[in-house]
Amino acid sequence: MDDLIRVHDKSFTVFIAAPTIQRRVQEMGAELAREFAGQHPLFVVVLKGAYIFAADLLRACPIEQEVTFVQFSSYVGTRSSGRVHRMLELRENIDERPVIIIEDIVDTGRTLSLFKEDVLARNPGSVHVVTLLHKPDAQQFNLVPDYVGFSIPNRFVVGYGLDYEEDGRHLPGIYQLKDDD
Ligand code: IMP
Repeated sequence: MDDLIRVHDKSFTVFIAAPTIQRRVQEMGAELAREFAGQHPLFVVVLKGAYIFAADLLRACPIEQEVTFVQFSSYVGTRSSGRVHRMLELRENIDERPVIIIEDIVDTGRTLSLFKEDVLARNPGSVHVVTLLHKPDAQQFNLVPDYVGFSIPNRFVVGYGLDYEEDGRHLPGIYQLKDDD
């Protein structure tokens, strides 16, 4: 894994190495399997950023389950635009079902606080939020994730599903924007 990489016009340094991510994701999958065995949860993956995390997490969670996808957009470059657009909606009937939302990163919490309200309004059995990354210092909305892979400082990151202007999602590790960039 290179320590310093370029994505578009910016430099990033290695922050969480791929084997460390893999170990943590295996632990999280096992924890979800223990807690939701026999409940047939509906996993709702927030595209695009969570697709790689979800693929690894769900294979580490060997219980009866269903998976579906939603998509919002709020980021422009390295900053949140402040608006959330719904691009792909939740179509499943979630009445009295356990719903587990899978997110790549909770930053301000805006996207998920809005989506969680939508889900709660549809009478689910329960709603939990699993996120690989959490930036507690960036939080502006009342959204406390139930399962967190890593709490990280308030700096922009790419890799393992997260992008900078649609590049960098394929990187197996997570990289942080370099200080002077
Ligand atoms: P929030 O609504 O401010 O919590 O932002 C959530 C969304 O913004 C995430 O699902 C990501 O797609 C994106 N995002 C937030 N922080 C980062 C980052 O550091 N790198 C890449 N994308 C990010």
